[in-house]
Amino acid sequence: MALPNKPKGELKAVVDPEIVEHDVDILIVGGGMAACGAAFEIKKWAPADMKIVLVDKACLERSGAVAQGLSAINTYIGENKIEDYVKMVRNDLMGVVREDLIYDLGRHVDESVKLFEEWGLPVWKRAEDGGNLDGSKPAPTLREGGAPVRTGKWQIMINGESYKCIVAEPAATALGADNIFERIFIVKMLLDKNTPNRIAGAVGFSTRENKVHVFRCKSAMVACGGGVNIFRPRSTGEGKGRAWYPVWNAGSTYTMCAQVGATLTMMENRFTPSRFKDGYGPVGAWFLLFKAKVQNGLGEFYAGGDAAKAELSKYMPYGASAVTPTCLRNHLMINELKEGRGPIYMATDVALGAFMDEKKAAGMDEKDLKKFWKHLESEAWEDFLDMSVGQAGLWAGANIEPEKIGSEIMPTEPYMLGSHSGCCGIWTSGPNEDWVPDVGADKGRSHQYKWGYNRMTTVDGLFTAGDGVGASGHKFSSGSHAEGRIVAKQMVKFVRDHADFQPELKQSAQELADELYAPVRRYHEFVGASTAADVNPNYCKPAGLMMRLMKATDEYGGGVATYYMTSGKLLNICLDLLELLREDAAKMAAGDLHELLRCWENYHRIWCVETHIRHIEFRKESRYPGFYYRSDFPNIDDENWKCFVNSTYNPDTEEWKCEKVDCINIVETEPWI
Ligand code: ADX
Repeated sequence: MALPNKPKGELKAVVDPEIVEHDVDILIVGGGMAACGAAFEIKKWAPADMKIVLVDKACLERSGAVAQGLSAINTYIGENKIEDYVKMVRNDLMGVVREDLIYDLGRHVDESVKLFEEWGLPVWKRAEDGGNLDGSKPAPTLREGGAPVRTGKWQIMINGESYKCIVAEPAATALGADNIFERIFIVKMLLDKNTPNRIAGAVGFSTRENKVHVFRCKSAMVACGGGVNIFRPRSTGEGKGRAWYPVWNAGSTYTMCAQVGATLTMMENRFTPSRFKDGYGPVGAWFLLFKAKVQNGLGEFYAGGDAAKAELSKYMPYGASAVTPTCLRNHLMINELKEGRGPIYMATDVALGAFMDEKKAAGMDEKDLKKFWKHLESEAWEDFLDMSVGQAGLWAGANIEPEKIGSEIMPTEPYMLGSHSGCCGIWTSGPNEDWVPDVGADKGRSHQYKWGYNRMTTVDGLFTAGDGVGASGHKFSSGSHAEGRIVAKQMVKFVRDHADFQPELKQSAQELADELYAPVRRYHEFVGASTAADVNPNYCKPAGLMMRLMKATDEYGGGVATYYMTSGKLLNICLDLLELLREDAAKMAAGDLHELLRCWENYHRIWCVETHIRHIEFRKESRYPGFYYRSDFPNIDDENWKCFVNSTYNPDTEEWKCEKVDCINIVETEPWI
């Protein structure tokens, strides 16, 4: 149900929007990989008369983290053991993960990748002589036994500029165009009036029409991605808005689930990726496919030396693994920068030169060498063109020839996510299998590993997937899709098992609309009080509020301003500032629908980052050196903190509770990896 493009300029908001009410059985909130997985799968399990609707704030064809495309699929198990996948994730995320969820994902993820290929995604294949067919030549499919081009143990290469379009189409076809609602931003999930702790609906507004949409549902999935622009980005001025993860991910998943009482887990985790400076271009292909290394400003390959080994050994067992955890790789880089040995370069020149030398040594003639070089060069550019076009633009604009000169790498501002290399998110039930620990029943769901419905949050009927599911990172695009498929089946089961349930909302549709459109009313009431619409004694605009949020988190919450360093003292100052910010957020004003979106995104961001700060404050150690440090607890303290931190907001009392929860290994710990 695509809406026409906007006319020139923003759409003015009116004080009395139209209200549209919908009764559905299942509501899928989000439109990224996880939501597409759910949409594709769900009709296979649902009876024909079950009404299933997907609501996306953007447009399914190009929404979510994969919107721009990707050059690799980072989770494909293939010939590997699923137990080894669990070990890799556990090691990369410093030991505190839900192994049941990771194992479960590992056994489903490859099917999603095989489907992608069948839907038209070109997957690079190895030729029989070991060469690389890079997706352009006919080769057996994965299902037929074709060998993908592995860059690392888990990653495979694709020609993925149109990845999201390819995945969205079967999702939309399966659900039916009439059941896909685009350009609707869901502001909050709604609990049932009569049954405690039971999801019953959601409310949102259109960003293209003055309409508020109220949904009643029997089960819902929230999969709206992670949290971006919650810390001050390194990009400034006209470059501001450029970020590594999608700028439209406003922490909505965590906020909307937390607000109805869903327990969160590991919100202290963040991802601070090292990226090509200013363009945020991906590094994975350079490290893995091209075998490039990082070099400091003195020309030293610091990451492999004795000093690095000594530094990593402080963080045993995590520092001892064959593949250093991502945060510790950052830690080494940050040490170089702090010691004044910057900048850090990806030595693209050395890596590409080594490939050519290898071919020359093997006796390749001049003509073939030239051909080989053209191929290599195009692969290097294609990596950016597939997934981070801005970086290719930056290289072109700065006259970068990667074979002649290295490019700067920089740790970015922090992001919150649960599907890429991060693991913050929502505490969910694992699958109903006997190998999933059966613990915690006396303490409630926030201490349990399973309570009947796989990936259901602690709120009845409310599910999540992708960036939403906590303590289970390294799913990436394929894993998020697979997790959406898992959830689809479970939601249908939940609705069938509770066939008598009829949702009833606590607030009337009009009350909900009044709440959502309050910033518009404020704007209209007070806009005449000053000559400039953005400066007013009675309201603040979302752009200004966002800058305040970024300043608070950056300076006190361990952002780039302090090289990711914070402390109990600083965190508490941050929490005070966020409380004030939340108060002032009630004074936001919106003149048009775009600003109304910004208002509510801000609100989601404030909540989301507040949970992050609360969790870092609660955990009295530095679990992820290189992602954040606490100066008052600078070390990893496995003895006291090798546990989950779970937090729950009580919507009735408006109180937060943080608690330690046992972290149980189900895959062997000797050898650790
Ligand atoms: S991307 O999505 O932007 O391409 P990224 O560049 O971080 O992701 O990494 C892609 C994949 O490569 C991930 O599976 C990541 O864990 C892995 N990876 C990246 N850099 C390294 C490295 N230096 N060593 C080992 N694995 C790496």
